[in-house]
Amino acid sequence: MHSSAHSPETIAIHAGRTIDPTTGAVAPPLVLSTTYLRAVDYSDTESYIYSRYRNPNRLSLEECLLALEQGVEPSGRAYTFASGLAATMTMFQALRPGDHIVIPKEMYFGVRAQLHEVFVPWGLRVESVDMTDLDAVRSAIQTDTKLVWVESPSNPTVKLTDLQAVAELAHAVGAVVVCDNTWCPLLQTPLTLGCDVVMYSTTKYFGGHSDILSGALIFKEHSTYSERVLRLQEVGGAVCAPYDAWMLLRSIATLPVRMRAHCANALAIAHALENHPALSAVHYPGLVANPFHDLAQKQMNSLPGVVKHGYGGMMSIEVKPTAMLTALHAAQKVAGQTKIFARATSLGGVESLIEHRKSAEGVNSTTPEGLLRLSIGIESAEDLIADLLQALAAVE
Ligand SMILES: Cc1ncc(COP(=O)(O)O)c(C=O)c1O
Repeated sequence: MHSSAHSPETIAIHAGRTIDPTTGAVAPPLVLSTTYLRAVDYSDTESYIYSRYRNPNRLSLEECLLALEQGVEPSGRAYTFASGLAATMTMFQALRPGDHIVIPKEMYFGVRAQLHEVFVPWGLRVESVDMTDLDAVRSAIQTDTKLVWVESPSNPTVKLTDLQAVAELAHAVGAVVVCDNTWCPLLQTPLTLGCDVVMYSTTKYFGGHSDILSGALIFKEHSTYSERVLRLQEVGGAVCAPYDAWMLLRSIATLPVRMRAHCANALAIAHALENHPALSAVHYPGLVANPFHDLAQKQMNSLPGVVKHGYGGMMSIEVKPTAMLTALHAAQKVAGQTKIFARATSLGGVESLIEHRKSAEGVNSTTPEGLLRLSIGIESAEDLIADLLQALAAVE
């Protein structure tokens, strides 16, 4: 058993789990049945009926996510989805055509694409703003703004938003604040900083092994918004599958240990690359010279441990052009030379990944040409540093 007084390490292993009363199994059973026996008078509407509505593995996972997200009220709610973008889709569908929302200029490009390709034609009024500039945020929020979306650290240049300050501005007009916290679960708990909802692509650190696609929305408290999201999930159907939910609960048991290892490796790598002659920038909030370092210390501090603050496992580096190569070609060359870092998209797995982000984002990308995004895994930091240094030698 766990209680909210326990630390994340204990909650991650015990929340949502019970010893199976039928067999005594310690590891939770996987329930694949889509349908369940009903009461003779069909009065059992709160029990298991059909797996689009409810499934034991999904409910266990949701209980665990809720417990991990410190700061949820007793009436908090967690819902899990078939992917991170299925979660965002449901969140936006719960608004009405004509509603006004504010989003960051820099955010995961898939969420922006979803808004512009689906929800702007549907009638949402979407305004992009530099979330690091509080005056700009204040001007962008209208008296009828319904939702403010934040992503901190942001994708791909690892900028931080002051979550508490933005939440205050949004709440002044009654807007709901949603934080995409995909990059730093456990390290930062947005509900304790004033946000109303946390969104995750649980495909990333929660899954942790690059083999589960899923997403989550965690509401600080039960509201008409959370009710509507649940109903949309029931009638829309983009639920987290039982096997994925079972796999996620298993992976979450090691999440605190993995997050510490990601953070320690990333900090060591950022220090090793900070003054590298082939690089024009290393974007990582753990570096003292980083413009977001103080804010990171203030709001990324929920999992004290190996490193005092958890600055996360994500960073980006910018490769300089050479006499022979543009920044774009120099960066692609570096990504082509690594032996441990795999040239692939996504993040949050145990294995390190490197990605030329502009190539991945496509023609509308505003990402700097020489930028490589690094998802730092939990291999040996020395091996990872050696791999990056030998790759960078190709453009020195
Ligand atoms: C910050 C962020 N939000 C949302 C998503 C979308 O999640 P999914 O790929 O699980 O749909 C991603 C995926 O890369 C992401 O990095």
